[in-house]
Amino acid sequence: MSQSTYQLRILTEAEDFLAVEELQRIVWPGNETEVIPTHLLISAVKHGGICIGAYTGGSTDDKGQLVGFVFGLPAIYHTPDGPRLMHYSHMLGVHPDHRSEGLGFLLKRAQWQMVRKQGIDRITWTYDPLLSRNAHLNIAKLGAVCNTYHLDYYGVLRDGLNAGTPTDRFEVDWWVHSQRVNRRLSRQARQQLDLAHYLAAGAEIINPSGLRSDGLPVPRAIHFPFDVLDQPMPAEAYPGLLLVEIPSDYLQIKQLDRDLALEWRLHCRQIFPVLFQQGYFVTDFIYLKGHPARSLYVLSHGEHTL
Ligand SMILES: CC(C)(COP(=O)(O)OP(=O)(O)OC[C@H]1O[C@@H](n2cnc3c(N)ncnc32)[C@H](O)[C@@H]1OP(=O)(O)O)[C@@H](O)C(=O)NCCC(=O)NCCS
Repeated sequence: MSQSTYQLRILTEAEDFLAVEELQRIVWPGNETEVIPTHLLISAVKHGGICIGAYTGGSTDDKGQLVGFVFGLPAIYHTPDGPRLMHYSHMLGVHPDHRSEGLGFLLKRAQWQMVRKQGIDRITWTYDPLLSRNAHLNIAKLGAVCNTYHLDYYGVLRDGLNAGTPTDRFEVDWWVHSQRVNRRLSRQARQQLDLAHYLAAGAEIINPSGLRSDGLPVPRAIHFPFDVLDQPMPAEAYPGLLLVEIPSDYLQIKQLDRDLALEWRLHCRQIFPVLFQQGYFVTDFIYLKGHPARSLYVLSHGEHTL
């Protein structure tokens, strides 16, 4: 289905939110306690929260079927000049039959437009850094940046996507007025840079992964280009660009081999907190389709808002 056949609507009514509850059960199957209920969605949207739904088809009498939604609410962050308002985007979900058709992007773009109108300049959210599709959407397509790694952010989650492994998360920042974000959301979006571009610019993969005989990627040694025990060095002493490899299909690994999934989780824990502490930001993501597919985060030292 092409993007133009979906309709986006701002959701405000109880009947809309019952459909959002239903869609949550499909996207995050397995545990009723993880579903955000209608009464909370209503309270939130009556007080600055935003919930946008994507529908298939529909006519004047029939709304069509809800196949995607994004939901977030106003929140506070602290700066040296005092507390400031931001938008915390709590959930983005697309029905499994409608993924990779650009709906996630459309919903986030609509959220970006509405938050700008509220006069807010920052949107944050968290996601599992091992999910390549989410990384591609959040970092490469939307232009969010990240230098925050949370260990076991939600504690134990019981839904089918999250059960069984620690809930480590990236917290990303989406600076809604930045050139980076505006360029990526514009109709003439920038051409995405691929691995060859970054390697030609001197970027180094610090954790090239291996392949097991069954085809699953396995983490291997990590080569930090600095001594991790040292105090931070002067900025010019750091390589400007680093690449960090993750599996292209972590959910498949979780299904087939829980121990390997945990190994990947612990591998990421050894990398990202160290790089963030040394001043790196995640600024781009590379997804190479193929057999095997490859997925790599790009981290930059220094300027991250362009
Ligand atoms: C994350 C999610 C919302 C994305 O929705 P979506 O409609 O598929 O997103 P889009 O189609 O706009 O963007 C996905 C991009 O990833 C690409 N992609 C698909 N598989 C990929 C993979 N394994 N690795 C990297 N990119 C991948 C798609 O091709 C698309 O990019 P393109 O437009 O350049 O081709 C959806 O997958 C989902 O609901 N997941 C489960 C719930 C979840 O994780 N929610 C987010 C955290 S709350």
